[in-house]
Amino acid sequence: MRTLFITGGAGFIGSALVRLLLAESDWRVVNIDKLTYAGNLESLAAVADSERHLFVQADVADRAAMDELFARHRPQGVIHLAAESHVDRSILGPAEFVQTNIVGTYVLLEAVRAYWSGLAEDERSRFRFHHVSTDEVFGSLGPQGLFSETTAYDPRSPYSSSKAAADHLVRAWYHTYGLPVVVTNCSNNYGPYQFPEKLIPLMVLNALAGKPLPIYGRGDNVRDWLYVDDHARALRLAFERGQAGATYCIGGNAERTNLEVVDRLCALLDELRPRGEGRRYGELKTFVTDRPGHDRRYAIDAGHIRRELGWAPQESFDSGLRKTVAWYLENSQWVAHVQSGEYRQWVRQNYSERRA
Ligand code: NAD
Ligand code: TYD
Repeated sequence: MRTLFITGGAGFIGSALVRLLLAESDWRVVNIDKLTYAGNLESLAAVADSERHLFVQADVADRAAMDELFARHRPQGVIHLAAESHVDRSILGPAEFVQTNIVGTYVLLEAVRAYWSGLAEDERSRFRFHHVSTDEVFGSLGPQGLFSETTAYDPRSPYSSSKAAADHLVRAWYHTYGLPVVVTNCSNNYGPYQFPEKLIPLMVLNALAGKPLPIYGRGDNVRDWLYVDDHARALRLAFERGQAGATYCIGGNAERTNLEVVDRLCALLDELRPRGEGRRYGELKTFVTDRPGHDRRYAIDAGHIRRELGWAPQESFDSGLRKTVAWYLENSQWVAHVQSGEYRQWVRQNYSERRA
């Protein structure tokens, strides 16, 4: 059986990828995650019993732990998603971002290189180290233009600059040591199981609780939204079929201002869970002080991955947002456990005996 390491597989995108791989491929997945506040094994409840899924609680910056895992499981590749991922947190405390996103990626690359160097020639060329990154490394767009694989790096936040540093390390390991890497840079994701610090789940849960919906600045910053399962499909394709040394930009072709996103969410909630007494969720919108260094606009040209690997998103923004709102309404237990912190207990009760 072929084995694949996924780092950060208890996070939002990593858990979507693990669920996809277990449902639609024959990979055996070793899921390596430190379980920070963002790691939630309850998001993997559906695959907890799978024989092809092994969860290991470990830090990618722990070289001894990584070496031991490579020696024990001998994977054919790695998809590296583990990271600190929230821009606002990076502004409040950049240290963890430097540690996990830069140092962690460096340590993992060195552990991978040591293991990969010892493989037979044909195994070495088939191996892939796939680094999952963001379009935020490219900085901020004006009203026109799109990011693509040739856009110069210009990161502005501690988060995006730490991801940019990691991207540079990964490409350096390709050019210097010949490690067969793939890098993907994706736009903003949304969908089920996203931690409610990010725009879309935060707005849904605040609205349901009757709390203010905090819109930074004037709400006219633009993001290009992609449904998380579409990203997971793109990651699988890039990992399995991507050229060594290649970069693929991934995006939803769904640019919206933040205000448009919040208005659409409010309209969906008015339809699916009316507040009653003639009140509308839109009344909760509140304009608050802008995020420092707030990037104006992100938008992706995904032509390369479409042409080379045949990828295209399956969800439109409208269909994906409706599914997402419905998911948060139907999964009140997942939400309640995240809000109370109980999801951390769930890990101990359900996974302790399976930890390596
Ligand atoms: P997330 O914050 O939901 O999950 C990150 C996961 O990494 C968590 O499970 C956490 O426990 C784990 N982790 C953190 N530090 C670790 C460490 N030192 N060792 C092992 N595990 C660790 O993030 P996400 O939104 O799922 O993003 C996943 C990846 O995709 C990140 O690399 C992010 O930069 C990238 N990305 C995210 C988006 C987005 O919109 N969310 C868009 C493009 C790219
Ligand atoms: P976020 O989900 O944090 O993603 P990123 O900063 O990585 O793009 O934010 C998406 C957009 O929404 C961004 O322009 C900031 C804005 N935003 C708000 O207006 N209010 C909020 O409470 C949050 C979390 C984000």
